[in-house]
Amino acid sequence: MAAPAQTLLLFGATGDLSRRMLLPSLFGLHADGLLPADLEIYGTARSEIDDDAFRKTAADALQSIVKDRDLAPDVLDRFLARVHYVAADASRPETLATLGEALGPRANAGLAIFLSTAPSLFESTIAGLEAAGLAGPQTRLALEKPLGHDLASSREINDAVARVFPEARTFRIDHYLGKETVQNLLALRFGNILFEPLWNASAIEHVEITVGETVGLEGRTSYFDGMGSLRDMVQNHMLQLLALVAMEAPAQFTATAVRDEKVKVLRSLRKLDAKESVIGQYVAGAVDGKPVPGYADELEKPSDTETFVALKAHVDNWRWQGVPFYLRTGKRLPRRTSEIVIQFRPVPHSMFAGKGAALQPNRLLISIQPEENISFTIMAKQPGLDRDGIRLREVPLDIRMANAFADVRRRIAYERLLLDLIEGDPTLFVRRDEVEAQWEWIDAIRAGWEANGMTPKTYPAGTWGPAAAIALTERDGVTWHE
Ligand code: BG6
Repeated sequence: MAAPAQTLLLFGATGDLSRRMLLPSLFGLHADGLLPADLEIYGTARSEIDDDAFRKTAADALQSIVKDRDLAPDVLDRFLARVHYVAADASRPETLATLGEALGPRANAGLAIFLSTAPSLFESTIAGLEAAGLAGPQTRLALEKPLGHDLASSREINDAVARVFPEARTFRIDHYLGKETVQNLLALRFGNILFEPLWNASAIEHVEITVGETVGLEGRTSYFDGMGSLRDMVQNHMLQLLALVAMEAPAQFTATAVRDEKVKVLRSLRKLDAKESVIGQYVAGAVDGKPVPGYADELEKPSDTETFVALKAHVDNWRWQGVPFYLRTGKRLPRRTSEIVIQFRPVPHSMFAGKGAALQPNRLLISIQPEENISFTIMAKQPGLDRDGIRLREVPLDIRMANAFADVRRRIAYERLLLDLIEGDPTLFVRRDEVEAQWEWIDAIRAGWEANGMTPKTYPAGTWGPAAAIALTERDGVTWHE
């Protein structure tokens, strides 16, 4: 593995992601002694503020996010002492020279750069980094999504990055990969003998992946309205989940082996028939008992952007032939939930049929958030003397991660990703070929919608999307898990 970085340079340091996720994550790592002892953190953004003002911004952000008991004043002071600020305008490459001067010899002694700025600034930022001597062979570059809005724009960004940073030093973020339960999928599948022999079309009837959110636009109007749920959520997070569920067993837990297997799945996705997708947009309704406005009201203009998408995907390879992968995600749904359901097939023959007992096929439910649980339903005999026939009932085998690992602090995804970036491990970052395979599939879906003149159907906020999303699975005899 590469040498740990000695300097972390955060672009967009005064922005929302930095305040909500990056600074609290770095603080968490610092408080647990996990950051390299000599690591210094430089924030940069356009605001002309000094170190002290940025430290105040950081302290305020930590105070509102980190729980009080974790925020010991001496630990906070030592963290803030590591933090510096240099103003630079990423749209004007020449202004990055000041960063080069501020970092001095640190520029060539293990530098990790994190761009959480608009992608439109990536090209000029990279040019500025190069000119300022901040793109040497000891530098790694992390890029926050969105990495383009289609295949062509994603390639453009990837080309601009590749001119200066080789793939091995390019870390594309999909924060879902930093989530503990997402990584736990690998442990479940490849750390147990139980599932893998059945993990294929002969035993699995279908797979469901749901990422439901209760939030609406959250002030991100111009970004979201230009993207929609397909590009905001399916292109990245949901396809990564699908790839982890569907991939072959990597031979090692290394960046190359894991990403090689994921990309094979992404390239096996069948071109989607527009009829196998449903798009929706929320209108006024109620979430958690509170009235909320519709999407167009929040936007203050009509729009054809989808805030909900449901689709039936197929992985065209030997393992998954004939197994639908139902995906759905949306804003203003009734519950915040990310989960994967693996629905197994019925047993080939029931010896209990003559005794009146009905069997339900096994189901594995992997909940990613808000709770991390794994639940496997099995058939069990209801206790009794069976004079009127045998009764069997579904019983869950439940693993509540919070109980199983009660003494372990749950970390937010960015803690893991920032530490991996600092230490130089790209396994949980997205490789260029993956991101491009994802866009290729997504672009074809959008072209299909356009060719078919598809526009979003409405759904009241606080419901599971348009009725057509229910019909999408019901016509296969499948009911979404709720
Ligand atoms: C982001 C999307 O990538 O993921 C947001 O841009 C979405 O629209 C968010 O709300 C969801 O992340 P999480 O971790 O809350 O499920």
